[in-house]
Amino acid sequence: MASTKIRRQPAATDSSVLGNQPPALNPALIAGFAGEVVRWQASHGRNSLPWQNTRDPYRVWLSEIMLQQTQVVTVLDYYARFLQRFPAVSDLAAASQDEVLGLWSGLGYYSRARNLHRCAQDVMALHAGRFPTTAQQLQTLPGIGPSTAAAIASFCFSERVAILDGNVKRVLTRVLGFSGDLAQSANERALWAHATALLPKQDLPQTMPRYTQGLMDLGATVCTGRQPQCLLCPVQTLCGAFAAGEPDKYPVKTRKLKRSAQALSLLWAQKPDGSVWLEKRSSTGIWGGLYCLPVFDSDDELKALLPPNLQNRFEPLPQVVHVLTHKDLYLSPWIAGFGEGQAMPQAMVSEARPGAWFSPTAWPDLGLPAPIRKLLAQDGQT
Ligand code: ADE
Repeated sequence: MASTKIRRQPAATDSSVLGNQPPALNPALIAGFAGEVVRWQASHGRNSLPWQNTRDPYRVWLSEIMLQQTQVVTVLDYYARFLQRFPAVSDLAAASQDEVLGLWSGLGYYSRARNLHRCAQDVMALHAGRFPTTAQQLQTLPGIGPSTAAAIASFCFSERVAILDGNVKRVLTRVLGFSGDLAQSANERALWAHATALLPKQDLPQTMPRYTQGLMDLGATVCTGRQPQCLLCPVQTLCGAFAAGEPDKYPVKTRKLKRSAQALSLLWAQKPDGSVWLEKRSSTGIWGGLYCLPVFDSDDELKALLPPNLQNRFEPLPQVVHVLTHKDLYLSPWIAGFGEGQAMPQAMVSEARPGAWFSPTAWPDLGLPAPIRKLLAQDGQT
């Protein structure tokens, strides 16, 4: 039973206070863990996702970047669209940033898309169009951190390197009974050293890709944050947290995300033919590089810039709440009906606010923040 408390030797000694050396691991864990994960992955893991069964680093890299902070079901469509438009890294490198952001629109965390594009350009310019083959070299590219580099290197080149994303941290801290606070970088480094010690040691061309995928699958489907399915777990008998009856205690991380709230007012200027006024946002800050309705800190700031002779409506639409990882955005859109030939007032047009009218057939192809796309898709109806 998942809740049964069986006392057994912890997988690792308490690592909340660490010297330079991580504590020794339970030999049974070192001997058995990787093999169990590899076997389980073959029979119970995910084996037919579109980025699997290939060792093409371009395809694997693209999937790994998309899968950062985004669920598999959401990524599937985007992945297919990207590959159709950019079959090779050279196609992606040659595209405009606008087009890349347009295809990325709705996936969120747009710095990923900007780095994706820069990374493709670096692969072309600095690596003759071929991705580097080691995790260490892969990490030198934009947007590829240590865990993503390890995932690509293990999937494509069978390198014996450990991944350590959020799901894997949960799996490993539980199995190891690792109670060090991961808010402290020394503890994270120690966990990484343990993760390396647990890697397969034999038949790496076969075992490394499967082991890496197995850890991801275990974290996503069995060793979940809430209600882990310990009864189905292939490493239950090796697991320190299960033995102690307390998988919920792991991972330990004291620093919590501080959430904030921000109110923004949006100008939705629209002409009778359905054209909307959109600005390209600067590359830094929220929604960097995306096209967006003009954003203001308050309704008053927005109203001050509008011409008095608006032909049709000027009225507030219902507020929209958009939840980001770190903050809740309270968006207050104002619809403003412009006449057919009516120009946007000069006060609204500047280098800081590079805007233009976009027809109803043009704006859907632009890179737009998800809440703005959703709003515009309402077609001005309230
Ligand atoms: N999340 C990150 N990488 C993944 C992969 N290769 N398969 C499924 N989910 C993932």
